[in-house]
Amino acid sequence: MQRIFITGTNRGIGLEMVRQFSQRADTHVFAACRKPADAVELQALAAQHPNSITIIPLETTDQNSINASAEKVAAQVDGLELLINNAAVNPSRPKQLFGEMTAEMMLSTLHVNAVAPLMVVQAFAPLLKAGVQAKIINISSGLGSMTRKLTGGLYGYSPSKAALNMVTRGLAADLKPFGITTISLHPGWVQTDMGSPEADLPASESVQAMLKIVDGLTEEDNGTYLRWDGEPLPW
Ligand SMILES: NC(=O)c1ccc[n+]([C@@H]2O[C@H](COP(=O)([O-])OP(=O)(O)OC[C@H]3O[C@@H](n4cnc5c(N)ncnc54)[C@H](OP(=O)(O)O)[C@@H]3O)[C@@H](O)[C@H]2O)c1
Repeated sequence: MQRIFITGTNRGIGLEMVRQFSQRADTHVFAACRKPADAVELQALAAQHPNSITIIPLETTDQNSINASAEKVAAQVDGLELLINNAAVNPSRPKQLFGEMTAEMMLSTLHVNAVAPLMVVQAFAPLLKAGVQAKIINISSGLGSMTRKLTGGLYGYSPSKAALNMVTRGLAADLKPFGITTISLHPGWVQTDMGSPEADLPASESVQAMLKIVDGLTEEDNGTYLRWDGEPLPW
């Protein structure tokens, strides 16, 4: 049995992950989202797969909500094999331009994209340690690569994903003794609300490719930064 916890599953890549995992036997997905009552597509999916999807309320910037979500999962299972930190923001209005950034804009993006994933992992660490060869996937972005940062702008999003990448490296070291493998994974440019309809990849293709990477992960991959197709990215 693979027991999985995913954040931000009411739309986009997170929803597609739940959809694809729900096709598998011996899999249980705890699908977290901020407002379960409004998550119509996720609810429909959970109704089709009542034994393999459990919807969990989670606002990732709220520590009480994180703690409550971990307690809800712990009430149902005694371990997790996979945690996917997928929830993130990339505000488009106002644009994240030099001269127009405010501290609040930058901090709110850093909170969701880099701080919250660490808080989630800390709360779920006991379940991950009790899981079988657990994996943590931090959904990052190529826009978090320092090496590839050759244009300006995106002062909230790009630093937040670079910070998330550093969180990945820290977790890779701290949790390795427990047999837990942590990576940063870039989904590609994907057709979601965040990626826009002009993006390269349908969510179904990106997620199919990413799940292949996740399935094939070994301890050797711990602390790496990969693309959806398995190619390594420069930090
Ligand atoms: N799409 C791309 O081209 C692309 C490229 C590179 C990386 N990524 C990464 O892929 C991941 C998924 O992106 P996406 O394209 O699916 O984005 P999306 O369609 O905008 O979905 C974002 C998800 O995150 C949730 N979320 C945001 N803030 C949250 C919070 N404070 N607490 C809980 N949930 C929160 C949203 O919930 P609400 O509906 O409640 O807001 C939504 O479910 C993100 O980490 C993103 O940075 C995407």
